[in-house]
Amino acid sequence: MASEKRLEPESAALYRINIWFYSLTDRFWNPQRRVEKIPLRAGMAVVDYGCGPGRYALPMARLVGPEGKVFAVDIQPLAISTVREKAARESLTNVEAMLVDSYATGIQGSSIDLVLLVDTLHQIGDCGALLREIHRILRRDGVLFMDPGHMKMPRAEEIVEGTGLFSIAERRGHDMLVVPKAEL
Ligand SMILES: C[S@@+](CC[C@H](N)C(=O)[O-])C[C@H]1O[C@@H](n2cnc3c(N)ncnc32)[C@H](O)[C@@H]1O
Repeated sequence: MASEKRLEPESAALYRINIWFYSLTDRFWNPQRRVEKIPLRAGMAVVDYGCGPGRYALPMARLVGPEGKVFAVDIQPLAISTVREKAARESLTNVEAMLVDSYATGIQGSSIDLVLLVDTLHQIGDCGALLREIHRILRRDGVLFMDPGHMKMPRAEEIVEGTGLFSIAERRGHDMLVVPKAEL
């Protein structure tokens, strides 16, 4: 069961600094390059956990197409309003931006093909609770694609494997493909 504790986002000012930083780095390293490495197919149901301004959620929504769906999940109201505005501007009807205040997303169990967790793990207070929720919503043949961002790779691997719920299937530079184990 995911934790019911109410979580607080970082301040709007800190969030804006982060987004401003992305606007600089994205000029040199386009997030689209990572999206091309994510094993996505038309029709997939995807969760972008800690979606921020939708640098990945929007390109993924174009890739999974109208038969697919992207849940863009964040604890920061500014992130959610940005994703909604961008999706509306592009007439992307397959994006559902979800504001959360706990690790319980409310997404149906075993319904998700791929969860993206990029540059977010270092901000998570209770990684175990988040990973249990991700395991709950992923299909048995689903995938967690993650980049631990500011967290060192060995620490991220220790956390993921320490849950006993996932195996690391592949390491690609700073990206990891993680697959769920069957429920014990
Ligand atoms: C550094 S940003 C990364 C944004 C996006 N993944 C990207 O790479 O462009 C981290 C995001 O995680 C969100 N976040 C932090 N803790 C969260 C939580 N417990 N639940 C959902 N989102 C969270 C923050 O609000 C922020 O938007």
